[in-house]
Amino acid sequence: MSPASKPKRLSQFWHPIASIEEISEQPQRFTLLDQNLVAFRTDAGISVFKDLCIHRGAALSLGEVRNGCIVCPYHGWEYDATGACVKIPAQPDKPIPAAARAIPYRVAEKYGVVWVALEEPIQDIPHIPLDLDTDPDYTSELFSILDWNTSAGRSTENSMDVSHFPFVHPNLLGDPDHPEQEPYDLHAEDWGQWFVVPNAFWRSVDQTQNAIITYTYTHVYPFTMHLHVTTEGSDDIISVMVIASPTEAKRTRVFRIVFRNFVETNPNFVSDYLHILEQDRVVVESIRPEEIPASLKEELHIKVPDLSSIAFRRWLENVDTQGLAEI
Ligand code: FES
Ligand SMILES: [Fe+2]
Repeated sequence: MSPASKPKRLSQFWHPIASIEEISEQPQRFTLLDQNLVAFRTDAGISVFKDLCIHRGAALSLGEVRNGCIVCPYHGWEYDATGACVKIPAQPDKPIPAAARAIPYRVAEKYGVVWVALEEPIQDIPHIPLDLDTDPDYTSELFSILDWNTSAGRSTENSMDVSHFPFVHPNLLGDPDHPEQEPYDLHAEDWGQWFVVPNAFWRSVDQTQNAIITYTYTHVYPFTMHLHVTTEGSDDIISVMVIASPTEAKRTRVFRIVFRNFVETNPNFVSDYLHILEQDRVVVESIRPEEIPASLKEELHIKVPDLSSIAFRRWLENVDTQGLAEI
């Protein structure tokens, strides 16, 4: 299927660009699906525009916010929070042409991050399984935002890949002497897929603690993975929402939001988790091509560990991953 004939585009989904705290009155540039965006805050909230002034194409992110408007750095045209041009300083007494508008995008704030849809979204912002975000027994925190040199597809596959543990995370998330993978049942849903992997291996980086854990993987298409982790013999539950944002075709900003129903007592939790992610990054950034091949026939798949990845790739076959209509 040629990209133009594919029924969906990545620009029709919500993707995160930043934490809410990152957005201030100072305009900043972000990138999503290879589009440069400017994000800034006014009394009306957060606005995200194409980072381009309609007059001569200067980057609005080099401008400033004044009186609730973003002011272009080149000739001072002022755009309000909706994108309407409200002032052209060179001819203040003339009517402002109707076409004098910045290009605004849909913005939403959820789970502590700013989400943008470049086109009319065809799906809501990904849900949190079990409604943990509104469950009073759980706290949540934005754990990390990491930029990786890979595609959002490869990053997402890494988040649901169960057979790399003994090799990439030996003696931490997997036992190198037992790399065999039990079959799992894959459950297909309208919004994605989920599956459960019991009896998984976990050891702390300093090797002083260990546990048997069960992962429930929930994959909301296209790029949100939710890892729900329960521990044998404990009521403590940790759940991580991993959202891979396709900043560029070969560059991804990965957001992790951690939900817990207990007070974390492991002083090394942050450094241990970052250590594991760094092990992943090195391998995932080595993958060529950086993007998931357009056809399932490319690369090889083995059924047990790759079942979820095969389903994801089938879904991706109907999506233009370059991601943009003419906008
Ligand atoms: S390019 Fe922005 S005001 Fe001229
Ligand atoms: Fe990993």
